[in-house]
Amino acid sequence: MKKFVRVENVGQTFHTRKGAFVALRDIDLTVEQGEFITLIGHSGCGKSTLLNLIAGLTRPTSGVLLCAEREITGPGPDRAVVFQNHSLLPWLTCFQNVYLAVERVFGGKEKRPQLAERSQAALDLVGLLPAQNKLPREISGGMKQRVGIARALAIEPGVLLMDEPFGALDALTRAHLQDELLKIVAKTHTTTIMVTHDVDEAVLLSDRIVMLTNGPAATIGDILSVPLARPRDRVRLANDATYLACRASVVDFLHRRHGNPERAQAAAQANAQTLREVDPAVLDAASPATRVAA
Ligand SMILES: Nc1ncnc2c1ncn2[C@@H]1O[C@H](COP(=O)(O)OP(=O)(O)O)[C@@H](O)[C@H]1O
Ligand SMILES: [Mg+2]
Repeated sequence: MKKFVRVENVGQTFHTRKGAFVALRDIDLTVEQGEFITLIGHSGCGKSTLLNLIAGLTRPTSGVLLCAEREITGPGPDRAVVFQNHSLLPWLTCFQNVYLAVERVFGGKEKRPQLAERSQAALDLVGLLPAQNKLPREISGGMKQRVGIARALAIEPGVLLMDEPFGALDALTRAHLQDELLKIVAKTHTTTIMVTHDVDEAVLLSDRIVMLTNGPAATIGDILSVPLARPRDRVRLANDATYLACRASVVDFLHRRHGNPERAQAAAQANAQTLREVDPAVLDAASPATRVAA
């Protein structure tokens, strides 16, 4: 498999009014073509910072990032980004929102009918062709995110970058869109890097889960391969031993090895004697923490 995205020895320091803030250090990651990678970690650990670096929206303080063996020096059509907030233009229809992106990338060499065809094919991919003439305010939050994904895929990016794309949606809509995303990447084989703080989402979607330690100076603490065959079915996986083992491994990383700093502090203030007497495994089983506290 071709190494498609490379992050080599990357660090990111922000210069704030209070002085230098080291957000990321020593990040090394290679993503192969067609791989689905999720970045998971507690809120504020640096997931978005890393994704923005790959998107080329920011430049690293140290190290180098490459996409298809070319250094990433800014945003480009080879890397499409989907944010949590759909960021559609409210005065344009779904079709026009997608068309705008398509025109920007392919407008130089293709005529209008071809551009329209590309736009409609992308909307069809996310099941939104019937809503193509609606304005963003006329459709649901889940549909808006699907338009955002259509717009990203319409430019045929080498890499699809997503920053908690389903984070603002209710659980059922989120599950539905995860299933849809699974089908889309199975069809398009698009290399995908997605930020999430949802353990189940990470296991369901990923080939590998990249787990970040807590900041400041966060880095990759562990990478978990998810050896589940595709297509994946969430209902069947619910009791699958491999699925459960992967899930347990991520939960262990997030809640035991790299517990939320705020929660750790709260726990320290609680009755230490009681905490010492309770087996952590029992605590875990009693409250299956599927989502990292935001
Ligand atoms: N432009 C910036 N200037 C200063 N600090 C920043 C900037 N962007 C992010 N940070 C800090 O870097 C850390 C990581 O942020 P972020 O990548 O947004 O976390 P996550 O996406 O994992 O929640 C946080 O402590 C955040 O406050
Ligand atoms: Mg973020």
